[in-house]
Amino acid sequence: MASGEYKWRGGFCLEVKPVPNTIVIFGASGDLACRKLIPALFHLWKRGLLHEKSRIVGCARTPMDDVSYHALLRKWIGDSEELEDFFTRLHYMHGDYSDPEFYRDLSAGLDKIEKEADADPAITGRIFYLSMPSALYETIVNRLGESGLTREDPSGVPWRHVILEKPFGRDLESARTLDARLHKTLQEHQIYRIDHYLGKETVQNLLVLRFANTIFEPVWNANYIDNIQITVAETVGVEHRAGYFDSAGLLRDMFQNHILEMLSLVAMEIPSSSAADSIRDEKLKLLKSIRPFDRKTLADSIIRGQYTAGEINGAPCPGYREEPGIPSESRTETFVAMRLFIDNWRWRGVPFYLRSGKRMPRKTSNIVINFKPIPHSIFSPLRAEDLTPNQLILNVQPQEGLALTIQAKQPGPKLCMGALSMDFKYASILEDGSGMPDAYERLLLDCMLGDQTLFIRNDTIEYAWSLLTPILHEWETNAETAGPVYPYAAGTWGPKAAEDLTARNNVFWRNETN
Ligand code: BG6
Repeated sequence: MASGEYKWRGGFCLEVKPVPNTIVIFGASGDLACRKLIPALFHLWKRGLLHEKSRIVGCARTPMDDVSYHALLRKWIGDSEELEDFFTRLHYMHGDYSDPEFYRDLSAGLDKIEKEADADPAITGRIFYLSMPSALYETIVNRLGESGLTREDPSGVPWRHVILEKPFGRDLESARTLDARLHKTLQEHQIYRIDHYLGKETVQNLLVLRFANTIFEPVWNANYIDNIQITVAETVGVEHRAGYFDSAGLLRDMFQNHILEMLSLVAMEIPSSSAADSIRDEKLKLLKSIRPFDRKTLADSIIRGQYTAGEINGAPCPGYREEPGIPSESRTETFVAMRLFIDNWRWRGVPFYLRSGKRMPRKTSNIVINFKPIPHSIFSPLRAEDLTPNQLILNVQPQEGLALTIQAKQPGPKLCMGALSMDFKYASILEDGSGMPDAYERLLLDCMLGDQTLFIRNDTIEYAWSLLTPILHEWETNAETAGPVYPYAAGTWGPKAAEDLTARNNVFWRNETN
């Protein structure tokens, strides 16, 4: 179907009004801030979603003034008149994150900046975005608390929110410890744990697709669905994050957050409303229904791999152990594939296949719902099993959209039928050509609006870790049950063992070829 044929009919928008607030970014000279956060704020400003009295303050250790910080950002964002205008709202402060003096200066600096912006302190909220290694969270949050910067009026206005990037701990125990420490200073409603996958359009659209249509929910269960696959594949290796990645590994980096979050949204029950806690309660319930992995047969349901040298799009890639900063004997996994089951009425017996890996042939994230074959064919001599079952693909990236495969008759006098894919891409209906908003735009905006729906609650983090910590433990301590770290060549879809994981049940991964 040609892209131009997709059209909106009707439509309903919830009005989003910008609220005055000051956004403080710790780690402002770092990669995430320069590549994602500041550009996201710039786009929000261009779309009129930053209040005219809102200001942004970048904080980092590097001594710089506003002018040199703007010069640094120009290298990432480019040059434009609009950007210069935006820069009048963007300040920079440097200091030592552990020094109480820095927080006194910051507090005075924020008061001054807000005064100059004519922002009323009685209603101006503040966001503290910690875009830095989690080892620094406790120190910064403590200092913010000691200096009164996170203190909220009991009325909740003006509010004080803290955004935290993952990882939230490295296992169940460390996550609990971190959480307890943060809660000494902050209340749960002030903590915004970010998972940028939840800001991606297709992931958000899952809620609308499932709960604003009648046609999907009746078939969204074990009676009609054969299996569900979630893939998050990347072509990149560890990039410049060797230290972090080698001690984390892919299970912590991608499954504990992004993949389990997507799984929850695909499989959860219908929330009673779209209120944040209503949705978050259902996600938690879903996680609690995942069947714990049997340690003794772990290698039957979880495959891990590590890439060796190979080629992606014609370019040679080094093996993981040859990457700068990676120990030559590292056993850290760069690929994981798992099969899990959800023990509840809806999903009884349906396998969920999840996989993610670095240095795969394509960058793609998608959710594939494979329906069951029809029960009986009237199109003799074709048997029911000769017809490709329906498949619904939710493309999360790079081209957000959805595709539905149905059986259809080919035009003509003979009865020829085959699988027809109706492929919808969001980009085709963006009228202003502005491109898809980045996930961080949506998440930053939600934090300004005090909406925690797309942020992760502490109990969810805990449950995700309860599921994964025994696996990590087994991997670290019991080579026999844990199975090997299978090598796979860069530029392939992972080790053969990952194919066997599904093939055993006569299921095949959907590997994109173009
Ligand atoms: C991050 C992981 O959370 O997500 C990275 O730490 C990974 O290792 C990245 O590369 C992938 O995000 P995206 O949006 O590019 O799919």
